[in-house]
Order: sequence, then structure tokens, then C-alpha cells
Amino acid sequence: MTANSQAARCEHVADDTAAAPTYGRAADGSSSSHAYRVHPGVQAALADFTLPDKLGFGLVAAPVMFSADCTHGQWTRGELLPYGPIEILPGARALHYAELVFEGLKAYRVGTDHPNLFRPKENWRRLCGSAQRLSMPPVPEDLFLEALEAVAGSLAAFVPNRSGTSLYLRPFIFGTESGYQVRSSTSFRFMVIANPVEIYSSGPMRVLIERNDVRAMVGGVGAAKAAANYAASLRATTAAVARGFTVSLWLDSREQRYIQELSGMNLFAVIGGQLHTPALDGAILPGITRDSLITLARHRGYRVHERAMPIGELLHMLNTGECSELFACGTAAIVSPIATLADPEGAEHIPQHVDGVAAELREALLSIQERRAPDLFRWTRTVPHWTTPR
Ligand code: COI
Repeated sequence: MTANSQAARCEHVADDTAAAPTYGRAADGSSSSHAYRVHPGVQAALADFTLPDKLGFGLVAAPVMFSADCTHGQWTRGELLPYGPIEILPGARALHYAELVFEGLKAYRVGTDHPNLFRPKENWRRLCGSAQRLSMPPVPEDLFLEALEAVAGSLAAFVPNRSGTSLYLRPFIFGTESGYQVRSSTSFRFMVIANPVEIYSSGPMRVLIERNDVRAMVGGVGAAKAAANYAASLRATTAAVARGFTVSLWLDSREQRYIQELSGMNLFAVIGGQLHTPALDGAILPGITRDSLITLARHRGYRVHERAMPIGELLHMLNTGECSELFACGTAAIVSPIATLADPEGAEHIPQHVDGVAAELREALLSIQERRAPDLFRWTRTVPHWTTPR
């Protein structure tokens, strides 16, 4: 079943309006009134918040969040509410069987009052695909977009506006039904939380090839943005960081021969002036930034090859200089240069250039995201103006 047909199945939104709700509304009347509730504490939560100077990545929680529930395939219309702890039964399947999928996207507000979202429908499609892989219900497209617009719209004044900063939005779905039987929950929650952020990684990364642990295998959940994939990466990441590296590079599970991705980022190599990136093999996360860079690079005249990339070949090409540059990309990091690629034994393979093509593509992408350049591919979407309901 495709994500779209699944979403259609879950289109019906249950009426949960019995408790005298307040609804959010687009102030300019241009977009239709929202169906979600607005918790009475939202106004105070927004009024009490100040944007700190130092943001980091994920360190500062935005003061509001969105939450909707799904029981037996029917979604409630959801609620915008103050950010805070949530109640979850200790037996909830999300906590025991990792029934959790998530997304990450950014709202930008450089040189304007109105934030815009970058390719949110792609995140919706991927979230539905991830949910389908874990046998969870998809979130209807309108609920997903409304939740993003409620959070980003209500937080418009707190979307940082320096170039490179943004409001990171983290939509996620998790199974809430309690029980140890290994089957899908019958109840789920969809939430969106947000953080004003700087770019995820600062400076060129030191990458360590992981040759023992495996992040994901074909047929598993590697192509889904499932929390379990990130859990599987943590032991290697901890060991890599302890050795002075930034992140691990994952290889395929069958032969430990082909490059997959970095934890949370896709990899690109510049070989003979052309771009090479591992083809999506079913175990690699289909990055939206990866896809955007491929489109942008081709538009700028680069040849881009999506192919199986043996690690041995890449190391050889780094040593001979045929591969002149390596970089990683993801929503959080955008485009992050790689300073060194190291074997577990300690040999470091250092590209001749750091941040050449990477810098060019980062600026090309960021200038569209920040609306400093024409939106050639119609990737950005303005967040409608939002006011607190009277
Ligand atoms: C992304 O950039 O898309 C990510 O998922 C990174 C996140 C795990 C911090």
C-alpha cells in the first residue's frame, strides 16, 4: 500500500469537540479556520518565552507543542498546547517495542516576519512510509500540515532570523497501547515539538568507519525514520566519540563492504569533479536534503551518480586524490564537510579539499531555504499568519 492510499484510509478525523474547545484561526482569513483545539495555557506560554542567544541544537525547547491521538484508525483533530511533560502508560508499546517513527524539518525566517517550511509534504510522505513499515497508522496530510503550521505559526516571533538558524520541527508518532503481546498498538499519538536551533554540526567532521556493529539491513527498518535505527547506532557512536571522532560511517550488513550512511546523515563524495552517493538500497534513509542536493547539483551542471559505493574503492580514491572531497548532509546539519575518514585501526584518509563543493551546495540550498534566492523548485511553503484565538 502506498503512503498516499494509506493516508486516504485514515482521512476521517473524529469529532472530539464535546468539551467546549477553542479553535485556532488564520488571522488574515486566507486559509480556512483550523480544526484543532488551542489549550488556554498557550497564550501565557508564548508570552513567557524569550529566545536565548545561545541555541545549540535541540537544547532550547519551544514553548508550545501539538498533540493528536488515533484510536482504531481514527484521528482526533488535535490540540496546540504548552510544551511540557506528557503522560504515557509505563506499559506503552512505544517504550517496549520501539513503536516510534519521527521526522525532522525546519522553518526559516531570515529577513521576514513570516516563517516558511522546507518541503513539508516530503516529510509527510516519508513519515507515512515509516509508519507503514512499522504497521502504524499514517497521519492524514491535512492534520500533519496543520500541526506544523500551528506550531511554526504560533512561534513565528521566536523563529531565529540569523542566517543558518531556524526552528527545527520534530513530528513523531508512537504507540500508546499498553501490553506485552508483540503486535501493533491500537492507539497512537502524533506530536510535533520544536526547537529554535543553530546548524547541527559546526566544523568539518572526523568520521570513523564502523566495521562491527550494523545500523540497518535490507528488509529491516533502515529506510524508515524509526527511533530503533538511532538506538542501534549509539554504541558505535559512543565509541567513536571516545576516540575523538564526530560520527560513525555505516557499511552494509551482508558484506560490510558498501557504504550506507552516517548516523542521521547521507554521504557524498566528489570524484573527478562529479558527485557520487550511495544508491538507496532499502537500508539507507532517503534523505530529503540528499534529494534536494541531487536536484540542485544537477541543475548547477554536476553529474550525480547514485550507485553502490564500496568502502575499499573510496579509501583508495582518497589516497590517490581521485576523490577530492567528502561531505554529509541532513536536515539538521544541512551540508557538513568531512575532514577525515578513518579506519578502526587508526589510518586516516584525508581528502584534498574540505568544504569546496560542499560549501557551494550548502549556500545554494540554504539561500533557497532562507528565501535569499529564487525558489526554483517550489520547495518552500509560507506558514500562514497565526493569532491566539479570542
Ligand atoms: C536529520 O538531519 O535529518 C536528522 O535526522 C538528524 C537528527 C537525528 C538530529
